[in-house]
Amino acid sequence: MSSPRNTIAHALVARWKWLDGFASFFSAIVGGFYKIPGPGPIKTLLHGATVGGYTALVAVDLFILITGETALVRVADFLLVASFITSLASIASGLTDWNETDAEERRTGMLHGLLMVTASILFVVSLWIRIGGAADQRTIAVAISTVAWLILAVAAYFGGEMVFGYGTEVNRQAWVSGPAKWEALEVTASGLEDRKPVVAKTKKGVAVFVAKLDGTIYAIGNTCTHAGGPLNEGTWVGEDRCEIQCPWHGSRFCVKDGDAKRGPATFGEPRFETRVNDAGSVEGRATG
Ligand code: FES
Repeated sequence: MSSPRNTIAHALVARWKWLDGFASFFSAIVGGFYKIPGPGPIKTLLHGATVGGYTALVAVDLFILITGETALVRVADFLLVASFITSLASIASGLTDWNETDAEERRTGMLHGLLMVTASILFVVSLWIRIGGAADQRTIAVAISTVAWLILAVAAYFGGEMVFGYGTEVNRQAWVSGPAKWEALEVTASGLEDRKPVVAKTKKGVAVFVAKLDGTIYAIGNTCTHAGGPLNEGTWVGEDRCEIQCPWHGSRFCVKDGDAKRGPATFGEPRFETRVNDAGSVEGRATG
């Protein structure tokens, strides 16, 4: 994805081509993870838990420094360990999102990832000192985790740029609404051949994937929810060949109900009811 940009992140990343080398390296490592389906909101929960946990850690550390309330020391340590654990899952899920990006979006994601890794290493160093060090070294540990948190905040900024600026992992059908009433799709039922999809447009311009499967006509959105791939150019897969595989990154959707069967897409396609009118044309309307 690329779009005209006017942000600090863009100004930096547009020139930092050195990030491409890291991106290729990590992409080779990640390859394959992204085929695991997983609901996008859970990824958001993981990111939130990580940033929130580390932020709470810094707040508790600060409280201890100000008040001398040492009873909370173990609370801080617990927050550090718990946040680190959620960060591992968060980083893994973030890599799956990033793996199919390109150009400046990819570089931005790489920078986000490198900053996250740097922050994580510093948090581990802080934990190491907290657990094994003498009491007078705790201030050093707190200083290190505070620096790590600042790096984390910058990483989060670039992570936000990925979602809000480039639309990484945003459902490409999020703003699509099909017709509430029956609408002719300019496809004749007699012209449909088994498993040879055609693309029809609703009056509002929504691209609809129309296909006949074993005598029944089905219709779902034609734009892949992952990154906009054209599903009508995909291939039929699944035991009964009722799933269409996106030609861009391999997401699979059940053509009968629109469900996402395999990632990287995490959202299903909008589904349309179909019927054939007296003139022999296929009509569709949105379900639900
Ligand atoms: S656009 Fe990425 S799987 Fe379809």
